[in-house]
Amino acid sequence: DLSSTSYKKNASYYRGGNAYKGKKVSLNFKNAKYTVRTLTSGNKKIKYRAYENITYVSKPVDKKYQTMNIYIPEAYFKNKKINGYTKNSAPVFFPNSVGGYMPGEATTIGKSNSSTMTMPKSTKSSSSTPAAPGAGGTGTNATGGAPSGANSAPEKALKEGYIVAAPGARGRTTKQKSNYTGKAPAAIVDLKAAVRYLKLNSKKIPGNQNKIISDGTSAGGAMSALLGASGNSKDYAPYLKAIGAADTSDNIFASMDFCPIMNLDNADSAYEWEFNGINSYQGMAMPGQTAETSTLTSAQKKISNDLKKEFPSYVNSLNLKDDNGKTLKMNKDGSGSFNNLIKKTVENSANTAIKNGKNITEKKYPWLTIKNGKATDVNLSKYFKAVGRMKAAPAFDGVDLSNAENQEMGTATVNKKHFTDYSQKNNTAKNKTAKASDNIIKMMNPMDYISNNNADTADHWYIRYGEKDANTSIAVPTIFAQKLKNENKDVNYHLEWNKGHAGDYNLNEMFTWMNKIAK
Ligand code: DHB
Repeated sequence: DLSSTSYKKNASYYRGGNAYKGKKVSLNFKNAKYTVRTLTSGNKKIKYRAYENITYVSKPVDKKYQTMNIYIPEAYFKNKKINGYTKNSAPVFFPNSVGGYMPGEATTIGKSNSSTMTMPKSTKSSSSTPAAPGAGGTGTNATGGAPSGANSAPEKALKEGYIVAAPGARGRTTKQKSNYTGKAPAAIVDLKAAVRYLKLNSKKIPGNQNKIISDGTSAGGAMSALLGASGNSKDYAPYLKAIGAADTSDNIFASMDFCPIMNLDNADSAYEWEFNGINSYQGMAMPGQTAETSTLTSAQKKISNDLKKEFPSYVNSLNLKDDNGKTLKMNKDGSGSFNNLIKKTVENSANTAIKNGKNITEKKYPWLTIKNGKATDVNLSKYFKAVGRMKAAPAFDGVDLSNAENQEMGTATVNKKHFTDYSQKNNTAKNKTAKASDNIIKMMNPMDYISNNNADTADHWYIRYGEKDANTSIAVPTIFAQKLKNENKDVNYHLEWNKGHAGDYNLNEMFTWMNKIAK
């Protein structure tokens, strides 16, 4: 009920306590200005129109981030085809630029990006969230959202005849005057508003706005997953209304999620299920720096032991099935049939690499069993050691509130909050306040929207995690992919061999998949 007091409270809170005072921004694409640019692809030249800095909400809180860049092949204005697509059928590639739960400006094509995002160490160095390196770039390591530049996914999309709609979004540090305005769920609300702008203008923008394919990496992967999972959910309505989002649908066709740092409220226990007993860790290095090696303190070791114990009941509560319909269970000690799913995921990764000609031997990878040139088993505890811990415990909800995720879960007036009962109870920070509200935590977790009657979850999913990535537990994306499979979604999930924390790799494979679902 959008006229209720709870909506009014939400709306003003969400705007940082202020009602909108400016002139309403038109959401009509007809008024949008463009320039014509050219992209070179081999010896072909591709002309396209660049519509940039389109504010996608009528009551913007922050015009730096609540804008979208839309790129359209010129051919569609001349009724020509590209890659079999027409001005009516071309899918829409929707790369977000969220990284590190930071605000992200809309990605540009054909000019150097004005901002290179660096993920600051959220607050201080004592805890676990990495000081991740800056901007993405093609297939490079995350953090920093959508890559731009030659051979980036957005450029390739344009070459393949896609409409590119690149949204910006607010993030954990966004501020207006003395209020924070980008705290959860602002990033996802903004992305939904951008989708709604596209749908509102579906007759005016070439392409098929019912074929929106979202793409993101890391925190942006989490946002892409959430966008795919939570389509049209009413939970977000007051927030969308407060910023003047178009009054239309926001479900999407497909979601591509690279190393999604998601399911934050269960990710701490997943991390300790994987890395408990591994006490030294190497954080992520800032560009040009070597990561420090640290050892868990005795307090952190106790936290690890505690959190590990929480994971089995979570896994069992999901009632996940394997691909043959058999229930996947976890025993109290973290063993059980669920682990077969993880083993299979790693095994498949190795076997794909072997098929692609990689020299994979037991000598090099002692945690693999290889028979007749095929990986047939994985020793999980050895594999987890080989991957190695990257974060202290808890990995996400820092007891001292020092992680990026604590800052993401803050409010207009409280910079950092806990979002798990465990860290709330074991808080060591001086400025302890109430835990983030359950409603906000839910609105940030894609798991809570799959098979939920109140959401229109996307049908097609491309989910990737790096075989060597330790930014979250392998269990997190694997559980997500399996849950989607159990709901009969079309899921392409793969662990990328020898890959760390990265996105938009294997562009040819990615576009083959996109073209297959879109045509
Ligand atoms: C990102 C990485 C992390 O390890 C994390 O905790 C949050 C975000 C990122 O790269 O976006």
